[in-house]
Amino acid sequence: MITSQYMDSISHLSLLFLSSLIAACVTSKTHVVFDENYAVNREADHLQDLDGQREVIPSKDQASGLMMKAPLLSNGEVQFGQNYVVSWGGDHVGILDGGMEVVLSMDNTSGSGFSSKLKYGSGFFHVKARIPGRNSAGVVTAFYLTSGTSNHDELDFEFLGNLEGKPITLQTNVFADGKGNREQRISLWFDPTADFHDYKILWNPYQIVFYADDVPIRVFGNKTNIGVGYLSQPMNIIASLWNGDDWATDGGRTKINWSYAPFKANFQGFNIDGCSTEVSDVSLCSSSSLWWNNQRYKQLSSAERLAYENVKKKYMTYDYCDDVKRFGTRPPECPQ
Ligand SMILES: *[C@@H]1O[C@H](CO)[C@@H](O)[C@H](O)[C@H]1NC(C)=O
Ligand SMILES: *[C@@H]1O[C@H](CO)[C@@H](O)[C@H](O)[C@H]1NC(C)=O
Ligand SMILES: *[C@@H]1O[C@H](CO)[C@@H](O)[C@H](O)[C@H]1NC(C)=O
Repeated sequence: MITSQYMDSISHLSLLFLSSLIAACVTSKTHVVFDENYAVNREADHLQDLDGQREVIPSKDQASGLMMKAPLLSNGEVQFGQNYVVSWGGDHVGILDGGMEVVLSMDNTSGSGFSSKLKYGSGFFHVKARIPGRNSAGVVTAFYLTSGTSNHDELDFEFLGNLEGKPITLQTNVFADGKGNREQRISLWFDPTADFHDYKILWNPYQIVFYADDVPIRVFGNKTNIGVGYLSQPMNIIASLWNGDDWATDGGRTKINWSYAPFKANFQGFNIDGCSTEVSDVSLCSSSSLWWNNQRYKQLSSAERLAYENVKKKYMTYDYCDDVKRFGTRPPECPQ
């Protein structure tokens, strides 16, 4: 009796001991320091580190924010330096309005460009741009995503400059696993040199859509089921202003007239809605919890489809799909 009571209390004690051990484990798991699960993705100088990282306070202005290590999002207007860096021709880049606007310039010594700090594995990317005006023949303004790998994935907007009074052409291209030659060209229904317009690229597991303002101008669906490559590599977002006068205007016959230099392209809208692969696995970028991957973005809405058909009918000046002379046959991803 006594023995058994004694045994009981021993086992009770050891149970207590065990459970306190378990509790200790759980406790040490719950009290992880900030760095273990989170990363500061904006304005590190707006954050305070308290109690060995167990408490973090973002300051109240809207420029700062904390994001989970999993898919990285950022919304709203943000300064250039939060998401981008100057990547080419630094002395030809102007940062205006406290970082809310950037101007790239080009003269006969250099062009210029900027790049996102991070790579992304899906997203709904955009930039607002005003393209060089007046005589801009031979001048190319580009906004694109590229993996920078040898078998590169790339999505291009390229504005091809022109002589004063002649229209700017907007060329788009899609490279998947190193395969490009998928140019489409449109003339725009507005003057891209007169004002800022929003240029966007949706990239999710189902489709890639290029937009000018909110009008779809190009759709490239995921057709891996019929053996067409689809973009799968993490990409940087890049904007640049460069000399393309060996091909861009009249097939390269109209050259840049440098007496109009410096040429200037202005950019705004540096927020990025994208899934950063620097802070999460690329496979997480197809998660349907990311808004650009959900049902609504699997295909164009019916209003978008109508607008897209209208663009193809009225504004498309070249479509590689129809270039039978070049390919001998219709590329498999094109409507057959
Ligand atoms: C570049 O432009 C400047 C200013 O217009 C001119 O003085 C210079 O000779 C040009 N350089 C070249 C290599 O064309
Ligand atoms: C393309 O679609 C297929 C399903 O048809 C899917 O398995 C694949 O992950 C998609 N590719 C990418 C890169 O999202
Ligand atoms: C360049 O533009 C200037 C100013 O309009 C003009 O005088 C000159 O002839 C142009 N040069 C060429 C090669 O067209």
